[in-house]
Amino acid sequence: MTAQLNPRGDVAVLVPAAGAGVRLGPGAPKALRLLSGEPLLVHAVRRIAAAGSVHTIVVAAPAGEVEAVRRLLAPVAPVLVVPGGAERQASVAAALAAVPAGPGIVLVHDAARALTPPELVESVAGAVRSGHDAVIPVLPVVDTIKEVGTGEVVLGTVDRSALRAVQTPQGFRRSVLAAAHAAAGDPLTDDAGLVEKQGIPVVCVPGSEYALKITRPFDLALAEHLLAAGA
Ligand code: CTP
Ligand code: MG
Repeated sequence: MTAQLNPRGDVAVLVPAAGAGVRLGPGAPKALRLLSGEPLLVHAVRRIAAAGSVHTIVVAAPAGEVEAVRRLLAPVAPVLVVPGGAERQASVAAALAAVPAGPGIVLVHDAARALTPPELVESVAGAVRSGHDAVIPVLPVVDTIKEVGTGEVVLGTVDRSALRAVQTPQGFRRSVLAAAHAAAGDPLTDDAGLVEKQGIPVVCVPGSEYALKITRPFDLALAEHLLAAGA
């Protein structure tokens, strides 16, 4: 089967899905944990595939699960599946290396953000298409944030108005992401961080509450409720 969704699309979406899910507790790799009877990765890929400008999806699977993930996703959408790495950044690099010629825009999207709406994929891709080299979806920070020192003693209160919580998908002009990964040093938790290090401006667009990252058991329970309510 070809791994191509929309042949006229200009977007490749990389889906790092090789993490263990330590914070979720013992069990299968997180991307394969069930949410309403289906693996998180299936929910995530189905929503990505519903975004009209997506040409290719590349999933970085846990190393021992590549064939299982291929079989799992075959009925969901055409995808390429590659083995992931020990760190998220290595998984993204492996997926990036598998993107075929064609798409000029690359989005990087966590499998753990399983309920991300297709509209967010399109809005990030659209912002890159309109000329931004790097685009991240963000939400305002709602809690008051304190900086603390030794003994959990408060050092000060951070100005919340200048802070943003960052989600995925993060979108990039393909050449910009490729150059940032080629120059990457110590692993970072997001791809925009690599691009920032190259001195390239990163632009924020509004994120979505539904793009929450399923990290702890509470998040999985919340996602079950959101799905039951029609997410
Ligand atoms: N990821 C990956 N390869 C890794 C580590 C993480 O592809 N070596 C992926 C995860 O599968 C996830 C995304 O990166 O979709 C975000 O990572 P995170 O939420 O931290 O997931 P895990 O690393 O699986 O969770 P934990 O840190 O709790 O083990
Ligand atoms: Mg992790």
